[in-house]
Amino acid sequence: MAFLGMDLGTTAVKALLVDKGGRILASATVEYPLYTPRPLWSEQNAEDWWAATVQAICAVLAKAGLNGDDVRSIGLSGQMHGLTLLDKSGAVLRPAILWNDQRTARQVQEMVDAIGGQAGVQRWMTNRPNPSYTAPKMLWVREHEPRIYAKAKMALVPKDFIRYKLSGEFASEVTDATGMALLDIKKRDWSQKLLDVLDIPRSMLPSVSESHVVTASVSTSAAMLTGLRAGTPIVGGGGDVAAAGLGAGAVREGIVMTILGTSGVMFACTNSFKAVKGGLETFCHAVPDKWHFMGVMLSAGGSLRWVRDTLAKGDPNLVQPAPGLALDPYDVMLDGAAKVPPGSQGLIFLPYLSGERTPHQNPLARGAFVGLTLTHTQAHLTRAVVEGVAFGLKDGLELMRGAGLSINEVRMTGGAAKSAFWRQTLADVFDADITVLNITEGGAYGVALLAGVASKHWKDIAQACDATLKPESRTKPNRKARSAYAEAYARFKQLYPALTQDFAAAAGA
Ligand code: XUL
Repeated sequence: MAFLGMDLGTTAVKALLVDKGGRILASATVEYPLYTPRPLWSEQNAEDWWAATVQAICAVLAKAGLNGDDVRSIGLSGQMHGLTLLDKSGAVLRPAILWNDQRTARQVQEMVDAIGGQAGVQRWMTNRPNPSYTAPKMLWVREHEPRIYAKAKMALVPKDFIRYKLSGEFASEVTDATGMALLDIKKRDWSQKLLDVLDIPRSMLPSVSESHVVTASVSTSAAMLTGLRAGTPIVGGGGDVAAAGLGAGAVREGIVMTILGTSGVMFACTNSFKAVKGGLETFCHAVPDKWHFMGVMLSAGGSLRWVRDTLAKGDPNLVQPAPGLALDPYDVMLDGAAKVPPGSQGLIFLPYLSGERTPHQNPLARGAFVGLTLTHTQAHLTRAVVEGVAFGLKDGLELMRGAGLSINEVRMTGGAAKSAFWRQTLADVFDADITVLNITEGGAYGVALLAGVASKHWKDIAQACDATLKPESRTKPNRKARSAYAEAYARFKQLYPALTQDFAAAAGA
């Protein structure tokens, strides 16, 4: 008996089978292309997602040596916000416009104006819209491709398109529905006010339920393609951020999760609905009656990748590691950085290489090194980048503390969690313990647990997390480093306002 969790990412889909003890039986990943037909655009073919999903399900069943009858229930998660438009026969009308597509700055402003400016945003939307969200993408298609929009009968985010292909049902759930920017986030249902103001018919949206509720079941035709049993229940699931929150057990107030990959996400569960300012977003959580705060940094691990691909490119240690040693370039870079004292001897990095969402909500923000001297080496630059990313994440954490959350523990996930240097830097900068768990499968694991809850194997999601997730390492803040970072963070905070004008000029605005 097993639960299947799916995570439809931006580069690949992952299928994960979990047994009733929460152990991972097998996983399978299948990639698909991403298209950038114009600068700042980002699209994928929804039918590519489906073909890859079918392959991943077949592969994971084969790897685990299971057949469809062994799968009790299914949970879906995936990249949020992307817009998939279907016609009346359920056919895809145009390439899906993804979360990282930046074409809708004008439509975002139109939404803000239509709802009555900042006061209207606060009253009706909770979060200030940004180009990631789905609703501005709908407005863009309506303005730029009216003939396509006229044929559009249904708008789905990526994982809900997969649900449709698996079951024939149009259904979403509260976490991904929040990211469409058409939800009353407090009431956890579509907002008639927003639909009226933006002139979007309710019939274009799927039903919306809580994340653990069974929303659909596998159809006979999907069963034939995937090897799943027809009738297998599919739970609501969650957008990848909320699902990763489940996968890290961030289901109680006080537990914060950070996902450190290309982007950096700070996530905290909260017991009551609270609108927050300062670029932190409030979303429905995948746990009934709970919400979560989310801070998104656009270029976190991405900033270190930039160092690797530019500044460190000619470093002979990275290009030609000692014979026989297959060294990861990041390990070499971080080993060097670890030898530089905390605070990088006065060097500060602003990590806004792709603009920033939290806290500045400014697509025109730019990166900067400030305080360079002749003594600084490449290792200093690398360390300053890691510290700058940690400071950017701390901005999100401070906003959460400011919203009244007391933070006991930060659980770290994503590629950077493997590095002791990253873990120690975050512990020192946050002044909090950093925990890494036994399971780091992210969203796919979180929704597999939700599937287990829907099958009544676990009583609720908190019990499922307690039964399966255990801390594997704990990194404590180092007192000496803490004070060096407090000083550097104070400088970091002053630099963004001091440079805002120049960033706009650099961006040609
Ligand atoms: C969340 C967000 C991203 C996407 C990509 O708001 O934009 O995390 O879900 O995975």
